[in-house]
Amino acid sequence: MTRTDATPATPLPAPRQCPYAPPAFYTETRESGQPRRGTLWDGSHPWLVGGYDQVQQVLRDPRVGADVTDPGFPNTSAAQPELEGNIFFRKDGDEHLPVRRILNPDFTAKRVEKWRTRIEELVDDAIDKMLEQPRPLDLVKHFALPIPTTAICELLGVDLVDSPVVTHAAHLATDMEAATEEKVAAMHELSEVLARYARQKQDEPDDRLLGRLVNEHVPNGDLTFDEVVRLAQLVIGAGHETTANMLSLGVLALIRDEQQREKLLSDPDAYAATCAEEMLRYWTIVQTEPRRFAREDIEVGGQLIRAGEGIICSLAAANRDPAVFQAPEELDITRAERRHMAFGYGVHQCLGQNLARVEMQAAFPRLFQRLPELRLAVPEEELRFRDTHIVYGLHELPVTW
Ligand code: HEM
Repeated sequence: MTRTDATPATPLPAPRQCPYAPPAFYTETRESGQPRRGTLWDGSHPWLVGGYDQVQQVLRDPRVGADVTDPGFPNTSAAQPELEGNIFFRKDGDEHLPVRRILNPDFTAKRVEKWRTRIEELVDDAIDKMLEQPRPLDLVKHFALPIPTTAICELLGVDLVDSPVVTHAAHLATDMEAATEEKVAAMHELSEVLARYARQKQDEPDDRLLGRLVNEHVPNGDLTFDEVVRLAQLVIGAGHETTANMLSLGVLALIRDEQQREKLLSDPDAYAATCAEEMLRYWTIVQTEPRRFAREDIEVGGQLIRAGEGIICSLAAANRDPAVFQAPEELDITRAERRHMAFGYGVHQCLGQNLARVEMQAAFPRLFQRLPELRLAVPEEELRFRDTHIVYGLHELPVTW
């Protein structure tokens, strides 16, 4: 076992050399066969893990924790412990699993399948509205954001689709450069709006997720009212920005690659699902998650990680590991190997993955079927990518047709 204690310089998330590939630091870490340390905003030096097998090893190790309030946890902003200290997804064991079990039934593949027709309608609605707009237009604003925002709001049972409170809070939450006070204020504003909805549903119950949480799980003591509000906040936040970024990046990839686009359109029924999986693998938008810390000394790839040290798993590097994926740098929407980890791995694996999948499966083929001439309205070099966000993506995607 070795121990590398040289002071690391590379900031996390590391700078990208190319917008279509993970940062070289992540790839080189994977290739070195050992975790390496980077530097977070607060000067702490968590370990970056990049190999596919090593990421899985870390994420299933019971000696590795996910509790954001632990001093060893690698925070991505000063606001994080306050914003996330009380929520199940930043907890372990008995503080995580029982809540996850309450939420799981609403997000199974079978349950989400019932939403497919509605999601297809949302895709068509967004395209109808795009057709009414002057061109060029921003595809992030007019397509990528409205579909998942509407879907998650309908699933929860809140009418916040056009609410700037939602987009503002979610956007700030993932921006590692935004000021702490601004983040906290935006989150409090969103939680007040959701608390009003939850109270209203106590008076007028319905069968949507928020209504059921507040009318079934608060009275029986599973959850407190405040926990329900925080869950709604998490589900809204996690449920729309991630998918929105995947939609805009996926559209960009298909605009750039005529061969892949034609393949998809040649048989959408056959390729919609593999196209969504390949986009998830290729982009792997979650840049600085999963984050964990070692509760005890552990060894990864021969490297000693001491108890109390932070760990960041690079899903992006793992998803381009040549030991698992053939020609991993290539985008191939017919790829049969589906073991990507874009939704994480282990007990914290993404709650909303089935929903995100259906949204992508519905959106990619339909958009290009209806707008076959869709193309960039600016030179590609002018596109602005979200390098400093926890979730990678595009600030805007100007298109025309
Ligand atoms: C967890 C990615 C969409 C809700 C995660 C994790 C990843 C991820 C990598 C694991 C984090 C960790 O282990 O620390 C994505 C991507 C999405 C997406 C790439 C879209 C393409 C959604 C949606 C929802 C959602 C639509 C809506 C419910 C959650 C929640 C967790 C989570 C609640 C925490 C689960 C737990 O700790 O048990 N997601 N996600 N995500 N995701 Fe997603």
